[in-house]
Amino acid sequence: MKIMVVGGGGREHALIKKLREDPRAETVYALPGNGGIAADAQCVPIGATDIPAIVAFAREKAVDFAVVAPDDPLALGAVDALEAVGVLCFGPRQNAALIESSKAFAKELMKKYGIPTARFETFTDMQAALRYVEEQGAPIVIKADGLALGKGVTVAATVEEAKAAVRDCMEGGKFGAAGEKLVIEECLTGPEISVLSFTDGETVVPMLSSMDHKRALDNDEGLNTGGMGTVAPNPYYTPEVAARCMEEIFLPTVRAMKAEGRPFKGCLYFGLMLTPQGPKVIEYNCRFGDPETQVVLPLLESSLLEIMLAVSQGRLAGTEVKFSDKSACCVVLASQGYPLHYEKGYPISLPETGADEQIYIAGAARKDGKLVTSGGRVLGAVAVAETLPEAIGKAYALADRIHFDNAFCRRDIGRRALSALKENC
Ligand code: AMP
Ligand code: GLY
Repeated sequence: MKIMVVGGGGREHALIKKLREDPRAETVYALPGNGGIAADAQCVPIGATDIPAIVAFAREKAVDFAVVAPDDPLALGAVDALEAVGVLCFGPRQNAALIESSKAFAKELMKKYGIPTARFETFTDMQAALRYVEEQGAPIVIKADGLALGKGVTVAATVEEAKAAVRDCMEGGKFGAAGEKLVIEECLTGPEISVLSFTDGETVVPMLSSMDHKRALDNDEGLNTGGMGTVAPNPYYTPEVAARCMEEIFLPTVRAMKAEGRPFKGCLYFGLMLTPQGPKVIEYNCRFGDPETQVVLPLLESSLLEIMLAVSQGRLAGTEVKFSDKSACCVVLASQGYPLHYEKGYPISLPETGADEQIYIAGAARKDGKLVTSGGRVLGAVAVAETLPEAIGKAYALADRIHFDNAFCRRDIGRRALSALKENC
């Protein structure tokens, strides 16, 4: 089979490596891929949002199966465009991708179908939004409606901070059109859990749970980032929590999307918070999470290609989705200064990896045959082990064998998960 993966980060590297474990994956193209992915796929210099060029490439090469991984092309209708020329796709159509690309849509959906989430109001008028902040008081959460690279959310500790965030979005144009509409919501508390799921629009099969670490620095300090590391499974996701999530959140969401005439097929990501009242939805994503994918897929024992084909062909119910009972940890090595300004172009030296180790490249290019840094998040060092403490130790040992100038990582990935494990014992 000729398979095309749209995207070019660590998540896509993990997807490609897993897809290639299936012998049917003869040729794998990455659009655009990156310097590290080039070791595992044929990288094609077509941007992930250049839909006409993506479609033309798929036709020219007679691609059998396309996996559209990032949110932007999904929101732009990449799947619709590829399906229109007869390419089988993994990923939601544009009308279903809205579950991520409009927070207002997602919140209204949850309200209509009784899916647990933070109380909220939607605003297009700045004065009304400011008045609402005054009435509600702090802490309070301000969210730009549209896609804002995960940076459109302000958890404001004071009314002043909340008002500044409202003004930034609606007056300052900080997020462009994405900020013309705001969702203002109640601030929830509790540990966060990421659950990626496969769904073909009818059946939903959750993958192993995971825990992201979004802030740039240890102890959850510093700015929000795309994610600085992950562990799986997430110890807060007990069988009781999982059963509640299935009943109250996963199935109702998939049914709601179908009822709205927006059946979702692909990977539906549930960003959850385990509040004192039970699990609630913080956000939906219409795609695999990054860097959640980097810890979840190494634990998948079934064929990812087979599952993805089943999702695309509406036959997920009869398909095996089996995970190992081991644990995994991913430590992201980033460039000093990320998520703001950072320098690029430093050579990366990679060690040999063992069977339970993976290095997924996120931001690197090839220059004169050598791998050099080209992004904020450069790579993820991933280890799998029998237990979570071992996986964390091995991931850091691997990260410490990788070198490039200006590298930094958090040193506390998995610490909160470990303390939860101790509490449970
Ligand atoms: P999002 O982009 O919606 O995932 O939000 C980014 C981060 O903001 C989340 O991972 C949470 O840590 C935090 N957050 C979002 N919504 C809320 C909320 N209602 N209460 C508390 N924290 C929140
Ligand atoms: N790691 C969070 C996300 O992919 O949105």
